[in-house]
Amino acid sequence: MTGLPWDASYLAGPAPWDTGGPQPAVVRLASEGGFTGAVLDAGCGTGDNALHLASLGLSVLGVDVAETALAIAREKATERGIAVEFAAADAFGLQRLGRRFDTVLDCGLFHTFDIDERVGYVASLASVTEADGTLYVLCFSDEGPDTGPHPVSHEELRAAFNPGSGWNVAGIQPDRLNTRYHDEDGAPAWLATIKRGADRAKHRRPVTHQLA
Ligand SMILES: C[S@@+](CC[C@H](N)C(=O)[O-])C[C@H]1O[C@@H](n2cnc3c(N)ncnc32)[C@H](O)[C@@H]1O
Repeated sequence: MTGLPWDASYLAGPAPWDTGGPQPAVVRLASEGGFTGAVLDAGCGTGDNALHLASLGLSVLGVDVAETALAIAREKATERGIAVEFAAADAFGLQRLGRRFDTVLDCGLFHTFDIDERVGYVASLASVTEADGTLYVLCFSDEGPDTGPHPVSHEELRAAFNPGSGWNVAGIQPDRLNTRYHDEDGAPAWLATIKRGADRAKHRRPVTHQLA
């Protein structure tokens, strides 16, 4: 939304997506008990979602490539006295964290990647998510007026998180994503709930023919 490299987006005041608070969809999901165990916020920006989840007592790691965003996130954590971790990490190499998570949040990151990039990102997410873990993707939707840049369709979400990639899409609900450039109702979004699952294609038993 800025057209700038990620870190530069954070240098001259708040970036367009940096609303200064957690996304209402994340707050609601958390109040419904959607986040459990160790939580990863992939592409956490200045950390408002991660900080909200950590303030509820969850163990949260927020990662981003933008050091300026991480510095702001750490400052907020200190000011608010919230125990939360922020670390520099590339979403395409999450396995390098050497950690695993029960719940993963992607708020506004997936929709920034091209179709070609999604395969690597989806595999990277799988590498750090527990076998029965859950991923939430909150992204701009291709439906409705005044959506954000890089809107995503149901089909694109299902294609990226297909069972062969080790994921199963449990549901995709219409939601809203707040930005600094939409009114208080935010932009049309999808909230996809995606379960980590066995790569059925790899584990499928070989077909055998029974003799009559
Ligand atoms: C649209 S912003 C959303 C930030 C935050 N989730 C929020 O809701 O405010 C996308 C974020 O992903 C980060 N990002 C982009 N590519 C990344 C990558 N390969 N690995 C980790 N973070 C990345 C950007 O620096 C940026 O902070």
